[in-house]
Amino acid sequence: MVMFVSLHMLRVFLTGAYKPPRELNWIVGVILLVFTMLSSFTGYLLPWDQLAYWGVTIGCSMGENAPLFGAKGPFALLEPGKDVNSILVGGTAVGQPTLLRFYLLHAIALPLGIAGLMGFHFWRIRRAGGVSGPL
Ligand code: HEM
Repeated sequence: MVMFVSLHMLRVFLTGAYKPPRELNWIVGVILLVFTMLSSFTGYLLPWDQLAYWGVTIGCSMGENAPLFGAKGPFALLEPGKDVNSILVGGTAVGQPTLLRFYLLHAIALPLGIAGLMGFHFWRIRRAGGVSGPL
């Protein structure tokens, strides 16, 4: 899915199909790309083995260094244990709450979000009179 979404984005870019009246569909596409990558990240924890555990520990702990919302990042606003890393893992370390929220994100929230945005994406293509023609 990541490969095909990337190929699709490359095709849209190379054919200039992001230009008016299709700018909004490019923006919707960027959100779809982010949701696709979040599906990869949340799905990575689900085997619940050592690779998954430590991969997600590292991935989420990067949030600690995020500007403003990471407890160790520049201009940190939030305290340790209440920053973006703790929100992602649902505690101070990856555990059962992390598995539950990643599973729900992976199996319910992200697919519903992707399906809804795909509907909007396709509706916008119809509104623009179909896919753009050759350059
Ligand atoms: C789950 C991810 C996505 C799905 C299922 C999806 C699906 C589609 C489909 C079926 C079309 C019409 C056929 C085509 O032009 O190839 C389309 C068009 C388009 N997509 Fe996506 N897309 C996704 C992600 C993206 C991304 C990442 C971008 C760019 C950031 C993007 C931007 C566009 C634009 C601008 C069009 C209109 C192209 C035109 O009218 O020629 N889409 N999308």
